[in-house]
Amino acid sequence: MITTLNGSDLENIIVKYLYLKFDISPTDILLEKEIILKKNENDLLINDINKLNQNIPVQYVASSEFFLYKKFYINDKVLIPRPETEELVNLIIRREKKRKPINIIDIGTGSGCIAISLRKNINSKVMGIDISPEAITVARKNILDDSENVDLVNESIEKFKTDRMFDVIVSNPPYIPISDKKLVDSLVLDNEPKTALFTQDDPLYFYRKILVFAKKNLNEGGRIYLEINDLYVNEVLDLFQGYNPESMRDFYGKNRFIICNTDK
Ligand SMILES: C[S@@+](CC[C@H](N)C(=O)[O-])C[C@H]1O[C@@H](n2cnc3c(N)ncnc32)[C@H](O)[C@@H]1O
Repeated sequence: MITTLNGSDLENIIVKYLYLKFDISPTDILLEKEIILKKNENDLLINDINKLNQNIPVQYVASSEFFLYKKFYINDKVLIPRPETEELVNLIIRREKKRKPINIIDIGTGSGCIAISLRKNINSKVMGIDISPEAITVARKNILDDSENVDLVNESIEKFKTDRMFDVIVSNPPYIPISDKKLVDSLVLDNEPKTALFTQDDPLYFYRKILVFAKKNLNEGGRIYLEINDLYVNEVLDLFQGYNPESMRDFYGKNRFIICNTDK
């Protein structure tokens, strides 16, 4: 029995859980399609309901999340892919799809959702790097499940060096300063990996590292796509001045993306 959630939250979570875990769609539920669970699935369901009752996000309980119509495997070592990030990826696909084959790097790849989605939709060679070995393991599983070809490197942006040049640098880096920890929803704070969420005191820390990397490894005419903390949009714009940065809002109306276009 789930006691900590209100009725509509609970309903949404259960609908999402059934879809993610058993491929039972919301339409199946609406049509009251009869579903017979096997004994082991029944046990699994009871076990998972206990986890939901402990306020564990449904995506971690179901070990998956949808991203751009594909189901990605995830666990609690990676960030749950977000709809805002899907928006960013859609934007990149729209802008980059018609170009000749390009080289892309995804910095802080996590589950690999950005890297794999770009590889699927753009004629490209894609590399993903992440400091977390557990994240690389998750991304590798998603790459294998999808038979996509993405190069993964378990390295930090601080230490990563390569001779490879890129036409597109994309990153959704950790962007919450640790001093803003109290503003973070407890569901996120208690469950998602801290290395995926927080920077130390400097909110621009990762953007500075990405800029250093871009100065060496971005091809002429290349582009940089960043997901950002809307509270620091002007600071990130200032940091990337010289790279023709523009900010874009997400569907909540927040300044969420910075795009740098060096061939303007
Ligand atoms: C906000 S998550 C984004 C994950 C994924 N790209 C997404 O959009 O769902 C940031 C990722 O950056 C990684 N990360 C944190 N510090 C890093 C560093 N110094 N170098 C490289 N990756 C880092 C984290 O492990 C995490 O996977």
